[in-house]
Amino acid sequence: MDQIEKTSMVDAAQPASSIPQDKSTTGDDKALLPSTDRPRVLVVANQKGGVGKTTTAINLGTALAAVGERVLILDLDPQGNASTGLGVGRNERKISSYDVLIGAALIEDAIVPTKVPGLDIVPSTMDLLGAELELATVQRRSHRLYDALARMPRNGKQRETSDAERALTARPYSYLLIDCPPSLNLLTINAMTAADAILVPLQCEFFALEGLSQLLRTVERVKTTLNPRLDIQGIVLTMFDQRNKLSDQVASDVRSYLGDKVYRTVIPRNVRISEAPSYGKPALVYDHRCAGSKAYMKLAAEMIQRERALRRNAA
Ligand SMILES: Nc1ncnc2c1ncn2[C@@H]1O[C@H](COP(=O)(O)OP(=O)(O)OP(=O)(O)O)[C@@H](O)[C@H]1O
Ligand SMILES: [Mg+2]
Repeated sequence: MDQIEKTSMVDAAQPASSIPQDKSTTGDDKALLPSTDRPRVLVVANQKGGVGKTTTAINLGTALAAVGERVLILDLDPQGNASTGLGVGRNERKISSYDVLIGAALIEDAIVPTKVPGLDIVPSTMDLLGAELELATVQRRSHRLYDALARMPRNGKQRETSDAERALTARPYSYLLIDCPPSLNLLTINAMTAADAILVPLQCEFFALEGLSQLLRTVERVKTTLNPRLDIQGIVLTMFDQRNKLSDQVASDVRSYLGDKVYRTVIPRNVRISEAPSYGKPALVYDHRCAGSKAYMKLAAEMIQRERALRRNAA
């Protein structure tokens, strides 16, 4: 394995020292504590592919926006499924998460509104595929996103040098959801380093628990090396199939392993959810009455409750 690959890949099987160590590990921590002048940053991650990360980011984001929250989704996956699923075509992705990550653009200039009121996105392009190599030798390579978010204009602290900045400070975001690729690579590590907490979509299938413990080990390692704030926001059981005994078994194993961290709301397997992205719409817009849409609305309500309790306890 060459040096670049060795230092930029994070494998939970490797020791903590293999996680990229930036010179300054946490930067201005106070600036990123939960507060009302910056969004709550949640990373939607699971190294396993096709478990419902993007579907959860899109539909949870839509459900939160539907109840009056202001939400920004940051697409950090070169596949760009969140961007496509929200109807942002390739020609609309002039400034992307790649530009933000490498420091070539400010986040406020990369934001594209979606058709869902209150929901915006920073789209991604295939350029992200090269980001890992490009950032391999750069200082604070795991903190690129953290630094970009720290530069994001805040409520009451605006410099107001551009229309984009004025728009952002006029209606600040309450949630920022980062959609990650199916890998524990430097992109995901950047997201974990920038986030307050991780939201894990988990498909109830045979190897789910094994993958989950690997992911949680990585979270612990990021916590000790890069981001002491990183918390587990919750585990969301996705594509749940009532007729499948294994689904039930895995769900109860995950609950006994992680208790309250697992959301009570379960997302059922629902064909309307899988149809929606090809129309460039969230399931909640495509068919708000289907079982999947209702589940995501319920999940948003449960999440808001959980977040309020967290703020009460922190106060
Ligand atoms: N609850 C559901 N019911 C039916 N299909 C679903 C459901 N959730 C997701 N899907 C479908 O499963 C596939 C994988 O979902 P999704 O793209 O959200 O997973 P992902 O974890 O983001 O994948 P990747 O790891 O490739 O980024 C998609 O085709 C999606 O439409
Ligand atoms: Mg995805």
